[in-house]
Amino acid sequence: MSKLKDKVAIVTGGASGIGEAIVRAFGAEGAQTVSADVTDGAGQRIVDEVCAAGGDAVFMHCDVARVSDIQALIADTVARFGRLDVFVANAGIQIEKTLTGTTEDEFDRLMSVNQRGAFFCCKHAVEAMLENGDAGGSIVVMGSALSHVAEPELAAYCTAKGGLHMLAKSIACDYGDRNIRANCICPGYIDTPLGDAYFEIQPDPEAARQEAGAMHCLNRMGAPSEVANCAVFLAGDDSSFVTGSSLMVDGGLIAKV
Ligand SMILES: NC(=O)c1ccc[n+]([C@@H]2O[C@H](COP(=O)([O-])OP(=O)(O)OC[C@H]3O[C@@H](n4cnc5c(N)ncnc54)[C@H](O)[C@@H]3O)[C@@H](O)[C@H]2O)c1
Repeated sequence: MSKLKDKVAIVTGGASGIGEAIVRAFGAEGAQTVSADVTDGAGQRIVDEVCAAGGDAVFMHCDVARVSDIQALIADTVARFGRLDVFVANAGIQIEKTLTGTTEDEFDRLMSVNQRGAFFCCKHAVEAMLENGDAGGSIVVMGSALSHVAEPELAAYCTAKGGLHMLAKSIACDYGDRNIRANCICPGYIDTPLGDAYFEIQPDPEAARQEAGAMHCLNRMGAPSEVANCAVFLAGDDSSFVTGSSLMVDGGLIAKV
């Protein structure tokens, strides 16, 4: 195995859900992994478990809404491991509101994490990868099926996610000649705490879960590890000619009407 041997990777939002699964998968595949999150306790516990299983991972506190935190995260990673090969911009939040129901503060908070945060993470990650010469690097942006189709009462979330697959394409255009690749993963409903928060506010949470599963061709929600497997592919050399793509990891959610 060891598909990511000798690679230095940062995963934002590594303390829960999809990010946690990516940190664990990267650890199992031999990457030196930095998990970055605002949730220190869970973040530290997960990297401790990765190390106990023979992996090499550290936790660093980082609020992606603060550019100074992002700069420190990347500088500390390069100081510790000598380089940066892979950046997964995964941290995200969700606000369940229509356009007219969304306040300016709610919009700014969501954008500061999901879109502005991802943008500046990628900017500073690419700056570090430019130091790698021909080896380049791989950026993975966590979009959503909602980068491509909309769902009711998620106006700011859909707006942010729609921009992320274009962010990946823009990076692919500008830095392909330096062997820096960028791709967007677009998950369907994945069983994580973020999804739980959405179901809990529905009138019948269990019925809403069943309904969500049934929206996918595969008739179920996805597991975080199923997204993490795709992140391993995009981070590693098996995807050496894949850039600017949106990889649907959605169980066929947007394949059907
Ligand atoms: N779960 C789904 O169904 C689903 C579907 C499509 C896309 N996504 C996307 O996948 C990503 C991960 O979602 P998840 O379901 O694992 O959510 P989650 O809530 O389980 O995990 C998100 C993590 O991001 C962290 N985070 C939040 N704000 C942060 C900030 N400012 N700086 C650093 N870290 C921060 C949280 O502390 C948490 O650990 C998100 O971008 C989400 O939009 C999720």
